[in-house]
Amino acid sequence: MYLKILFYGAKSYDEQFFKHVLKDYPKLEIHFTDANIHEETAALAEGFDAICAFVNADLGTNVINQLAKHHIRLILMRCAGFNNVDLKRAGELGIAVMRVPGYSPEAVAEHAMALALTANRHTHKAYIKCRENDFSLSGLMGVNFYGKTAGIIGTGKIGQAMANICRGFGMRVIGYDKYENPEAKIQYMPLDKVLKESDLISLHCPLTEETHHMINKQTIQSMKNGVILVNTSRGGLIKTEDLIEGIRAGKFFAVGLDVYEEEGPYVYEDLSEQILQTSTMARLLSFPNVTVTSHQGFLTVEAMESIARTTLQNAVDFLEKRHSDNELTHCHF
Ligand code: NAI
Repeated sequence: MYLKILFYGAKSYDEQFFKHVLKDYPKLEIHFTDANIHEETAALAEGFDAICAFVNADLGTNVINQLAKHHIRLILMRCAGFNNVDLKRAGELGIAVMRVPGYSPEAVAEHAMALALTANRHTHKAYIKCRENDFSLSGLMGVNFYGKTAGIIGTGKIGQAMANICRGFGMRVIGYDKYENPEAKIQYMPLDKVLKESDLISLHCPLTEETHHMINKQTIQSMKNGVILVNTSRGGLIKTEDLIEGIRAGKFFAVGLDVYEEEGPYVYEDLSEQILQTSTMARLLSFPNVTVTSHQGFLTVEAMESIARTTLQNAVDFLEKRHSDNELTHCHF
């Protein structure tokens, strides 16, 4: 009894880490394709039992329908988020969906702080200036984090790791969560109060119908002038047009984005030789106080090792019909 898995959208680091841990999972056979999964590539799954996909996959209704026709029984998400998967349809068709819920909250939280610091202290610009023998300090003014207030929106695993980091910087930490965690050392407040009091706002809640565009014209207005906003969660949390309007109005000291609304077709691709067909990213990058990275919060050695192990363990749990909390569809194995 073994499971044959096709890894879609595989990058060199995926192959490196998954091949390394595969020796501990003799019941699994894995193959890689750099093609991402969408309607045109779903047919590649023919002959496999399971597929493995990432945050940028299209696992909407049509793709799930196609996977069922190719007798796929299991979708392994090698990530925490699953807003791109039609779980309902997968469940109806008896396809189990499993994920990796908390591989390394610190990896993402540390990137959130790196973005906050880069956006604040302009280290990305300072580096380029020094390389060009420009040792002047113009355009590099920042603000202290010490003694300021950090507002954490979504106080789950990553939000709490970010709260710890902020405390280490000597910041006061406040937060908002729909489901408050009494064990989190966070002073909870309603969302509008957190927005009003925070000097640094970091987003860490999942993208759902409820959180979609939670940062919009109205919520931006209730923020402090000169706030620093960081999003390492999902692009859809922020209504980008309203963010751009807010940046133009001078609301933000700095903005750091690891995720953005239109990342779908771009993320993880080298498009440096191409003419981009949308302008939102170009507009964001035209602002001197915006720093963007390409959904790399997860990208540490520790996180990748943990993702690889948990993903393959999920496959074995499925194969051996073991209950797993990482299963999202509650299909009968
Ligand atoms: P988690 O499930 O531990 O925490 C999420 C928190 O959000 C929970 O405390 C939950 O109660 C809260 N929440 C849910 N609905 C809410 C609402 N309507 N309003 C306010 N809070 C709400 O998840 P974790 O591991 O902390 O991850 C958070 C998010 O980070 C993921 O959903 C994912 O989108 C993103 N992520 C980004 C990565 C990157 O590479 N940039 C990597 C991994 C995750």
